[in-house]
Amino acid sequence: MIDKQAFNLALEEIDRTLVVLAADGYRGFDCSPQSLEKIENWGQHPDGFAETLEDIRADLGDCRRCRLARGRKNIVFGAGLPAAKLVFVGEGPGFEEDQQGQPFVGAAGQLLTRIIGAIKLDRAQVYICNIIKCRPPGNRNPESDEIKSCFPFLERQLAAIQPDFIVALGAFAAQTLLETNTPISRLRKRFHEYNGIKVLPTYHPAYLLRNPDKKRDVWEDMKMLMKEYRYED
Ligand code: URA
Ligand code: URA
Repeated sequence: MIDKQAFNLALEEIDRTLVVLAADGYRGFDCSPQSLEKIENWGQHPDGFAETLEDIRADLGDCRRCRLARGRKNIVFGAGLPAAKLVFVGEGPGFEEDQQGQPFVGAAGQLLTRIIGAIKLDRAQVYICNIIKCRPPGNRNPESDEIKSCFPFLERQLAAIQPDFIVALGAFAAQTLLETNTPISRLRKRFHEYNGIKVLPTYHPAYLLRNPDKKRDVWEDMKMLMKEYRYED
């Protein structure tokens, strides 16, 4: 004999669940990796399912939201651990990054890889991305309307990753994230805050390639980061 009341309560529960799932763009039950991941993550966020990096990448699509789309070869979305505790944010893709669709893979990227190694981590343990996802022609600085189109995607990526720390590489990344015009030389050496995430600005590895004497300063910043990073474990 079926307990009618329990059965009706179960139906109501299923009904409510389906409403929440539908609101999240979910179109049915299946066993795709995406659906299983959503089910796995159920209940971890007070407002239902938080979007994943894959959701954000899918929404970005073959982005044509600004003029940089015309000159790029590849969108450089970001790379690394989706649940990274530490995120490095650069300016935007250069030539090599545009060719490969991966962040920090050129000369500056090789130096960044060494910096990450120096703090006893590797690239797969952090997340690496940029303020801008498409290479500006001739590596010019991104313009404000380009940042406006692109930055919301980075904000969503950071909300999905929920890191404890961001290292802002160079003046452009630091000033954009912190909404300030203060020079990088005065921003570095201490933690700032972005949406509850500790932000440590430091010099850009491309700047270090031209000014090797500044590596000492970056090392000081990285030591500061390591201390806090271990403390948060
Ligand atoms: N410089 C950046 O700021 N980002 C990259 O991805 C590569 C070089
Ligand atoms: N100016 C920049 O834009 N970035 C640096 O890292 C240093 C100086």
